Amino acid sequence: MSNWNASSIWGEGMDQDLRNRFLEGMSRAATFVAVATTDGPGGRCGVTISSLTSVSADGDHPSLLACIHHMSPAATAILKNRSFCANLLHEGQQDLANLFAGRGGTDQAARFDHAAWDSGPLGQPRLAGATAIFECRLATAMLWETHHIMVGRVMAVRLSEDPKALLYGQRAYRKAVHLNGD
Ligand SMILES: Cc1cc2nc3c(=O)[nH]c(=O)nc-3n(C[C@H](O)[C@H](O)[C@H](O)COP(=O)(O)O)c2cc1C
Repeated sequence: MSNWNASSIWGEGMDQDLRNRFLEGMSRAATFVAVATTDGPGGRCGVTISSLTSVSADGDHPSLLACIHHMSPAATAILKNRSFCANLLHEGQQDLANLFAGRGGTDQAARFDHAAWDSGPLGQPRLAGATAIFECRLATAMLWETHHIMVGRVMAVRLSEDPKALLYGQRAYRKAVHLNGD
């Protein structure tokens, strides 16, 4: 999901009705929301993502993947820094989700001024209050059409005491409700 304008994301032969139906269908898949952050020689950057997915809990280390638009400064920085943090947002952090999605026009450096951060063992920016933080080394990346599919080898996980994650579905922020009502 991204704000990139149509000319930068539609292929030459893209069927617009198919694209619209794809977007509507995927909007019904509620996901959690994370801010992917990175720091190092490629700069300090962060971007809001909903594409964070677990790949494997086994192997040498657990692994996850994220898909980030090739024009996002965060993608360029992660590819250079070879490390990143996936900061899973708490349900009270929707303002940060908007900020790191570029809504409001705040530039990369200033986005970090609106929250408290520390550094994990790999030196990657960890967001205070995030419900879970996965600090990763970039294991591999593949450019598919408009997005880099980035696989991270998880080197450290920090868990907050409050597990309530922010969700995004049907084009709105949401929170999970237990079906039994409690
Ligand atoms: C809830 C939500 C989820 C998003 N998920 C992704 C994602 O998985 N991948 C991605 O490249 N952009 C995603 N975006 C869009 C980016 O956060 C951002 O808007 C876009 O990359 C432009 O930001 P920039 O100013 O950092 O370049 C998402 C935005 C929102 C609000």
